[in-house]
Amino acid sequence: MRRKFVAGNWKMNTLGQSAAELARALAQAWPRAKPQVEVAVCPPFPYLASVGAALAGSGIELGAQNVSHEKPGALTGEIAIEMLRDLGCRWVILGHSERRRLMGETDALISKKVTAALAGGVPAILCVGETLAQREAGQTWAVLDAQMQGSLAGVEAVAMNDVVIAYEPVWAIGTGVTATTAQAQSAHAHLRRWLSIRYNPDVAGQTRILYGGSVKPDNAQSLLGQPDVDGALVGGASLKAADFLAIVRAAESIINP
Ligand code: 13P
Repeated sequence: MRRKFVAGNWKMNTLGQSAAELARALAQAWPRAKPQVEVAVCPPFPYLASVGAALAGSGIELGAQNVSHEKPGALTGEIAIEMLRDLGCRWVILGHSERRRLMGETDALISKKVTAALAGGVPAILCVGETLAQREAGQTWAVLDAQMQGSLAGVEAVAMNDVVIAYEPVWAIGTGVTATTAQAQSAHAHLRRWLSIRYNPDVAGQTRILYGGSVKPDNAQSLLGQPDVDGALVGGASLKAADFLAIVRAAESIINP
């Protein structure tokens, strides 16, 4: 069975004090790793160390929001995968739509980052998702397929053990508009079929596919209850300990009703 996974993407939010406070509150509420639900938070780079310290010994893992595809060396302003591993990062989010759209990241660049992350021993949460215009033009499946194909270029089946997919429809991110459970389920099922064809049924069966886009305490249970929705990548609601924990508990309640 695929272990449910709830990850918080703090994006470019918090300062040192609020990051540490949020991490401490989560660590207290979720002191031990649980077999059925995996939990992670991905703070901004400057707070990885302090958040990592606050989470030490708890059941919550640390992740980053981006990484360079290059090896350590002369590359001003970039962060190498070795540094993330050194800081105790267990995950790195790659290909987020905000980076695709605002920072010009292409599938070709994202695939280099995925390859660097996996080679560096840090599993990736790879984000894919269509815009509203693409959905309305009936291009959703083609867009998802192209993003998967391009971003996973060169990633072999064995390496897929260390990849989690996040389906994040761009129109649902930070908008308060959530995909319906039917829309989410059908996109996830589509992505799983893609994994089966590109790789094999084992990879498709074992790869976790998270939903992201305005996940809140009041919609988490119905989204996470869909057969192909294995968890959530949470933005805004991950900045409030009570809301994020409510989403984590919703994931837990599906397994232990
Ligand atoms: P929101 O939950 O704020 O819509 O953000 C989703 C997201 O982009 C997570 O990566």
